[in-house]
Amino acid sequence: MILLDGKKTSSDIKDEIAIEVAEIKKQGNKVPHLAAVIVGNDGASLTYVNAKVKACKHVGFESTLVQLSEDISENELLSQIESLNNNDNIDGFIVQLPLPKHIDEQKVIMAVHPDKDVDGFHPTNVGKMALNLPTFISATPFGILELLDRYNVETSGKHVVVIGRSHIVGSPMSILLSQKRKVGNATVTITHSRTKNLKEITLQADIVIAALGIPEFLKADMVKDHVTVIDVGITRVEDATKKSGYRLLGDVAFEEVSTKADFITPVPGGVGPMTIAMLLKNTLLARKRSN
Ligand code: GUN
Repeated sequence: MILLDGKKTSSDIKDEIAIEVAEIKKQGNKVPHLAAVIVGNDGASLTYVNAKVKACKHVGFESTLVQLSEDISENELLSQIESLNNNDNIDGFIVQLPLPKHIDEQKVIMAVHPDKDVDGFHPTNVGKMALNLPTFISATPFGILELLDRYNVETSGKHVVVIGRSHIVGSPMSILLSQKRKVGNATVTITHSRTKNLKEITLQADIVIAALGIPEFLKADMVKDHVTVIDVGITRVEDATKKSGYRLLGDVAFEEVSTKADFITPVPGGVGPMTIAMLLKNTLLARKRSN
């Protein structure tokens, strides 16, 4: 079994980006600038956003954290987004999801200018992605493609089973892997909460991508030998023995599934760090495009 080490791979990617940033600086050009908007005080979201800002510093990007109160009105948030759209100093920005219930997430996603939408969530960018045109590919599926690529995991002609149909992961992942691209050309089955006989389907998979958000959902009896398993889940469960008071669980029962797998991602240290590295890659792309 080979561990698909997202921590190490993302660190390699960040090193590559840092070299490019140093070159941009040397040429006297403006370095990439990412802004991140967070609404409210959700612990997990704050952790993710802070990790994104820290990663910017690490590679030499400029970064701006826009922290807004939980009770901000939708209109106020939309006007904050408008000012980021119009700020020439900022190359790309993200609005961390989920948002409080009184805010229409779709409206917010639509308000981000597609050229600054480094999350790749705007319908214009989702549409381009679906047509296999150059665009910002959202960071989590992009990170999974990159991880499979760097470990030379064959996808062409393989049967990939994606569990979960979210707009952020399951849906784009299934589209991308079915496309004619370097990491792609797979036969993809997308499954979800209404799927019948899921186990019969996952047992046929050469590659399983678990992105449903239920801790340790995928068990060893649901996969065949020599499977590749990508675990996108990251759920906090209480654990009094930990300093933080919680531990992180993926969607895969790692201990048992890893005994059957040829390749598998750990949680933490798998897909999570890759997401951050690919967000930086998209921000670098946004900077280069605006030259
Ligand atoms: N929430 C969970 N994943 C993501 C992501 O990739 N981007 C944003 N903005 N919010 C998220």
